[in-house]
Amino acid sequence: MKKKKKVSPIFTEEDKTLDLALRPQSFKDYIGQTNIKKNIRVIVEAAKRRKDPCIEHLLFYGNSGLGKTTLSYLVAKEMKVGIRTIAGPSIKKSGDLAAILTNLREGDVLFIDEIHRMNRTCEEIIYPAMEEFRLNLIIGKGPMARTMNLKIPRFTLIGATTRLALLSSPLRSRFGATFRLDSYTTKEIEQIIKRSASLLGLRMEQDSITTIASRSRFNPRVANRLLKRVRDFSEVKGSNVIKKKEAEEALSFLDIDEAGLESGDRKILQVLLSRFNGGPAGLQSLAIASSEEEETIIEIYEPYLLQSGFIQRTPRGRVATEKARKYIDKRRKI
Ligand code: ADE
Repeated sequence: MKKKKKVSPIFTEEDKTLDLALRPQSFKDYIGQTNIKKNIRVIVEAAKRRKDPCIEHLLFYGNSGLGKTTLSYLVAKEMKVGIRTIAGPSIKKSGDLAAILTNLREGDVLFIDEIHRMNRTCEEIIYPAMEEFRLNLIIGKGPMARTMNLKIPRFTLIGATTRLALLSSPLRSRFGATFRLDSYTTKEIEQIIKRSASLLGLRMEQDSITTIASRSRFNPRVANRLLKRVRDFSEVKGSNVIKKKEAEEALSFLDIDEAGLESGDRKILQVLLSRFNGGPAGLQSLAIASSEEEETIIEIYEPYLLQSGFIQRTPRGRVATEKARKYIDKRRKI
């Protein structure tokens, strides 16, 4: 049997570069999340009428690849202000955050991705910054320590997280509005693929778009990545219009099946079914048995397996559904 190339649903640097190239440049180009777009438009419009360069701080949460970063860039663009992006885990000391805050320009958006992974000690810095645009710094140690209170430029904080529950409630409550990004519909994913294909200068038959969309886990970043892989495949084949058969061949070469499951997803199901007799299995046991990190199971595999009805979460652990059992049995027979 031909050796299948593995792709993982874990997003890579390459995906991020691709995101940049295909990122919508205006709300008009941004497909899906209709309600959030409407709400943001109202917030932005109201601030403009007040002649306020800032809006209230926003928190976006939802699975990876659903467009939290893109929305944040669109907010800054709409407000006609700059945006400074920083990853939560890279803010290790309160001094790091203080330096970023003092270097902002009036009105800027500060986008903190994975804000749940920001060091907890930074929270003391961030609260007065969010509420009063002030920094309270402690200079020196012991009896000689002094506090310094500095004014910083007014800014809008946009936080993004995949794990809302890991944010402390005082931090959560300081955001003026919190938005949950949902998965996209198949129709929206098809529209996104069409738009990306046109930006990449690709000609595609509708059937090939439908095929890619059906395996994209209702996620734009996955859709764009699969589109790129299909494009590579068809380039090698020398075809100038991408057809359904080519899309199917490319995706099965990548080991992505009709349900959009990849090898890692199937492994989780197989482990649940064979080692735990369908479950329930606790997260830790499942992680050990499948040689995956607990975080990866929670953030990468589980959302789609839950959404597509292959597993359920119960108080006693994860359970494989009848659908999963039938699905894995059928694949064994192929
Ligand atoms: N590319 C990635 N996400 C998108 C979206 N929501 N709309 C349009 N193009 C996209």
